[in-house]
Amino acid sequence: MKPKVYITRRIPKEVVEKIGQLCEVRMWGEEDVPVPRQVLEEEIIEADGLFCLLTESIDESLISRAKNLKVISNMAVGYNNIDVDAATRRGIMVTNTPGVLTETTADLTFALLMATARRIVESTDYLRSGKWKTWSPMLLTGQDVYGATLGIIGMGRIGEAVAKRAKGFDMKVLYHNRNRKLEAEQTFDLEYADLQTLLKESDFVCVMTPYTPETRNLIGEKELSLMKKTAVLINTARGGIVNEQALYEALKNGTIWAAGLDVFEEEPIKPDHPLLKLPNVVMLPHIGSASIKTRTRMAEVAATNLLQALSNQTPEHLVNRELVNR
Ligand code: GLV
Repeated sequence: MKPKVYITRRIPKEVVEKIGQLCEVRMWGEEDVPVPRQVLEEEIIEADGLFCLLTESIDESLISRAKNLKVISNMAVGYNNIDVDAATRRGIMVTNTPGVLTETTADLTFALLMATARRIVESTDYLRSGKWKTWSPMLLTGQDVYGATLGIIGMGRIGEAVAKRAKGFDMKVLYHNRNRKLEAEQTFDLEYADLQTLLKESDFVCVMTPYTPETRNLIGEKELSLMKKTAVLINTARGGIVNEQALYEALKNGTIWAAGLDVFEEEPIKPDHPLLKLPNVVMLPHIGSASIKTRTRMAEVAATNLLQALSNQTPEHLVNRELVNR
C-alpha cells in the first residue's frame, strides 16, 4: 500500500507527479486560498505525510489528531508555524528547505534596502500622481547606501549572503548573533557587536534571525530609540520579531527614518493597516524567496524530504534531529 500524503496548496505539477509516483496524493485544490482548518483537521487523521506551507498552523491540537503521520514537510526555511516539540514527542519528523532560497532572499533584502534608502516607491507614486513639476535640488532625497554601516541581526546563511552583497557597496558590516561566527567574520570582514552597539552605530539594520520565543519583539520601542534618526530598518525574516506598534510610532515620530518590510505580525495585512498610511515604509507581501526558480526548487526540496522520510531514510533537512540520534 502506498503511503498517503496531503498537500495543503497547489504546488508545481511536476512535484505533485513526483510525489504521486510513490504515494497516494490528496491536495487542497483552490489556488491561493489556504486550506480551511476544518479540512486539514480531517485530512491529517489518515495522512502518513503532510506537505505544508507557512500559512498553516501545525499546532499540537492538529498534530494530536494524526493516527499515522510520519513527516511534516514545510515548504519554507522558517518553521515557526509548526509545534516541533509536539511533533518530536510523537516521533513525527519535521523538515524544512534551507539553502535553496538563500541567495534569492538576500537579493530581495538588498532590493528592499535600496528601495527604502532611495525612496523608490515614493518616487514612482510621485510621478504617477502627476506631481513632478521640475528637477529640484532636495526633491525626494534619500540615504546613501555606498559606504554606510550595515547591522545584521542573525548571522545565518541569509545574513552571510546579505553581508556578501554589502561588501560590493563598501559597507562596514556589524553583526549580532547568539554565537560568534569566526569564520564568517574572516570571510566577509564582519565585526561582532552587542545588540545595543549595533543599533546605535548602524545606518541600516537588517533583521535576519529565526522567529522563536526568544526573538519575539526583539526590536521594540527601546531598541528603536537607540537607532539613528537617519536609520533604516529592514525585516525580511518574520513579522513578530519587530513590535509593529512600536515601529509605527517610531516611523511616525521620526525616531528612525524609514523601514522596509516583507513580513508582518499577522499576514496577510488588512488594507487599513496603519503602516500603509506612512510614506516612509516600503512594504511587500512576503516575497523574499519568490523567484520562479527558487520557489520551484523549494517545492522539490520539500518533496524530497517528504519522500525520504516516508521511505525510512533520514531526510536531508530534518529539523528535529534528536529523532535519529536517540
Ligand atoms: C519564508 O519566509 C521561508 O521561511 O522560507
